[in-house]
Amino acid sequence: MSEPSDYRDNSPNGRCPFRLERCGDLAPLRGALESAGYDQSALAGTVKLDDSSESLDVPALVLRTAERSPYNTLVRLFILALSVPEQAARDAVAPMKLESLVELGLLQVVADQVRATAVLFPYDDLLLARDFWPQVAGDAALPDYVPGVGPSSLALANLTVRKEVEFALDLGTGSGVQALWAARHADRVIGTDTNCRALNFAALNARLNERSNIEARQGSLFEPVSECQFDLVVANPPYVISPKARLEYRDSRMTGDAVCERVIRDMPAFLREGGYGTVIFNWHHQTTRDWAERPSQWLRSSGCDAWLMCSNTSDPIAYASDWLRRGQPHDPDRYPVLLDEWLAYYREIGIGMISWGAVILRRRSAEANWLRAEKAPSGRPTGSCSDQIQRVFAAEDLLDRFEDDRKLLELAFQLTPDHQLEQVLHAEDDSWSVDTARLSQTRGFGFVGQVDPLASKVLAGCNGRWRLGELVAELNEVSGLDFEQVASACVSVVRNLLRSGFLVQR
Ligand SMILES: C[S@@+](CC[C@H](N)C(=O)[O-])C[C@H]1O[C@@H](n2cnc3c(N)ncnc32)[C@H](O)[C@@H]1O
Repeated sequence: MSEPSDYRDNSPNGRCPFRLERCGDLAPLRGALESAGYDQSALAGTVKLDDSSESLDVPALVLRTAERSPYNTLVRLFILALSVPEQAARDAVAPMKLESLVELGLLQVVADQVRATAVLFPYDDLLLARDFWPQVAGDAALPDYVPGVGPSSLALANLTVRKEVEFALDLGTGSGVQALWAARHADRVIGTDTNCRALNFAALNARLNERSNIEARQGSLFEPVSECQFDLVVANPPYVISPKARLEYRDSRMTGDAVCERVIRDMPAFLREGGYGTVIFNWHHQTTRDWAERPSQWLRSSGCDAWLMCSNTSDPIAYASDWLRRGQPHDPDRYPVLLDEWLAYYREIGIGMISWGAVILRRRSAEANWLRAEKAPSGRPTGSCSDQIQRVFAAEDLLDRFEDDRKLLELAFQLTPDHQLEQVLHAEDDSWSVDTARLSQTRGFGFVGQVDPLASKVLAGCNGRWRLGELVAELNEVSGLDFEQVASACVSVVRNLLRSGFLVQR
């Protein structure tokens, strides 16, 4: 396995800033940032930490960091792309030697001033190098621009199954953040990208975060790993449906959503039995209702079970205007021209609506695999959905096997943690009576459901010890209703709760 530092700059224009072969130990740099208090929460108080340049108020930040201190020097260097006096830079990065960072290519010295060539951004417990925001750099982003952690990076991270595995792939690795997250629970990770500059950043980030189990490979889609199969594949491809391939991280060179179709159709062949793959993607369709049709076709006969989620659907105008305004200063002259260009392209290829979503695949040799397609719960997931995803896959397997309700009555179920039940009560005859009850998840997807009195009794009885049939008998006695009626209502409640990850089979 090659080490991250083996990655060489072979980009045609040699725009890779870092010479990793000259990279020594970077732990002293991390130490310097830590002791200066240059961390995510401090930065959140100084700059708004998201990926959109609109939120960076550069003039205010320049004023805010005017007083000389190691922290302010680091913000000026690594967030604002400003030159600082050499001695200030030397003090801020000590005990790391300034010369070592110049040798690496992260800092440049001009006369007695020092400037950085990239952002250093603490994220979680990671330290990530990325390109300066175009607004900060003072130029429009170049085609090989390498952004940092954005909303789609986080969505992918949250929808990744975090099991301990041997071999993982991060397709379209960019700054390498998914590879770094995967490297925590995979023995070995390959990050691929067409953009040499991105791979150069990914390799530096592996070094900065002391990960020696990540390998960077250049090439398109699965081409650089054609001989491999993985336990985990994650992909956040350049999914934006746009008329021109202007930015490599955003626009593929393929028509419409073809890049997403290729990744989804090809992924199963690169998964080992039981291996999971997650793709964040955009796709087009005709109406607000037919969103599942095309991706479902891509998944047909894939040898994988698949969970397809649609987060939102836009009409072409809303979609184009969102992407054209994102991350760049508004240009009132060019904007209407570009908008026309994007909309003409959508008309040309017959796009009615565009959706944003994800698919999670799991390779499973079976006579038939299941496909579940649904609108994702509203709101972004809070944190990793890994446990829930595995519960949902186990539930779908179970329900696939046990179509007959009577078989479910023989099983015991248990309520999982991370949920809450909220009740609205009204006073009646000197006591409280329940108007509505709402069950919701406090972590992960945040599935929510209304719970009727029967369902709350089922929930309370799902303690892992009672079989569902025993619970039905108990409820039947209390309610005085027909056994079959109670059984069918309870089974339906249990099916719903299993499918949204509130219950597991014991
Ligand atoms: C949306 S970015 C994702 C970056 C990172 N994985 C993340 O989640 O933040 C897409 C990445 O795919 C890369 N890319 C573009 N075309 C590609 C292709 N044909 N094959 C592999 N990677 C590609 C881009 O250079 C970019 O780094």
